[in-house]
Amino acid sequence: MSAQRIALVTGANKGIGYEIAAGLGSLGWRVGVGARDKQRRDTAVEKLRAGGTDAFGVPLDVADETSAVAAAELIADRAGGLDVLVNNAAITGGMPQTPTTVDPATVRAVVETNVIGVIRVTNAMLPLLRGSASARIVNMASSVGSLVLQTTPGIDMGPALVAYSASKTFLNAVTVHYAKELGDTGILVNSGCPGYTATDLNGFQGVRTPRQGAAIAIHLATLPDDGPTGGFFDDGGTVPW
Ligand SMILES: NC(=O)c1ccc[n+]([C@@H]2O[C@H](COP(=O)([O-])OP(=O)(O)OC[C@H]3O[C@@H](n4cnc5c(N)ncnc54)[C@H](OP(=O)(O)O)[C@@H]3O)[C@@H](O)[C@H]2O)c1
Repeated sequence: MSAQRIALVTGANKGIGYEIAAGLGSLGWRVGVGARDKQRRDTAVEKLRAGGTDAFGVPLDVADETSAVAAAELIADRAGGLDVLVNNAAITGGMPQTPTTVDPATVRAVVETNVIGVIRVTNAMLPLLRGSASARIVNMASSVGSLVLQTTPGIDMGPALVAYSASKTFLNAVTVHYAKELGDTGILVNSGCPGYTATDLNGFQGVRTPRQGAAIAIHLATLPDDGPTGGFFDDGGTVPW
């Protein structure tokens, strides 16, 4: 494998994912821009390349098994390996998501993308990641998935989002189990929270910029070999489960 580090960022055509790709690109990394829509993907790749990132497009719908397998083949072909996977793509499922009234189809769709999509893409990429001397897997979670924060009196965690928030709790559990299974491989697996960031996801209501939101993923993607695994972090340090 070449000395240049290679990353795949899912949902990299906009928002935080785009800035993660740009940030890793600025470190000299080669970045696969995972995105499901050809036009949005091509536009992002073009913009990243214009900014100096060695970017290439990776057609990827995380909710589709065939797409994930094809993405791994494309990366093997184009880049010859993979060092870092950032599982960033996610949907909220829309609002409201009150537990007592939510449409089960909404919960199913959100879990399919935000949790099963991560498992699907991770398992498709693992053969490539196992070939890296210092592989990292970063799962973009959220503090709204923290059961400790959700149940601590006095902390405002926003409206009840039984599909989205619970999908991030589920994702954190997935992070822990991957970290345990891969514990002796050197592959570090962590969850990150970007903070409340102004993107399409929340109608641009967030208070952080996408670049600020990307910082924790870049940090976790570039952990040293003796860095943590199986943790949940934001820019301030450890986030409680
Ligand atoms: N923004 C926040 O305040 C905040 C807070 C905590 C955590 N997060 C997490 O941070 C991550 C990035 O969020 P964001 O705010 O940047 O959201 P965003 O702007 O809505 O971007 C989401 C990305 O995911 C992609 N995506 C959704 N479903 C997909 C699928 N099935 N296959 C492939 N790509 C798919 C979207 O692609 P399309 O353009 O094709 O839809 C888009 O590129 C998410 O995991 C989110 O849960 C965000």
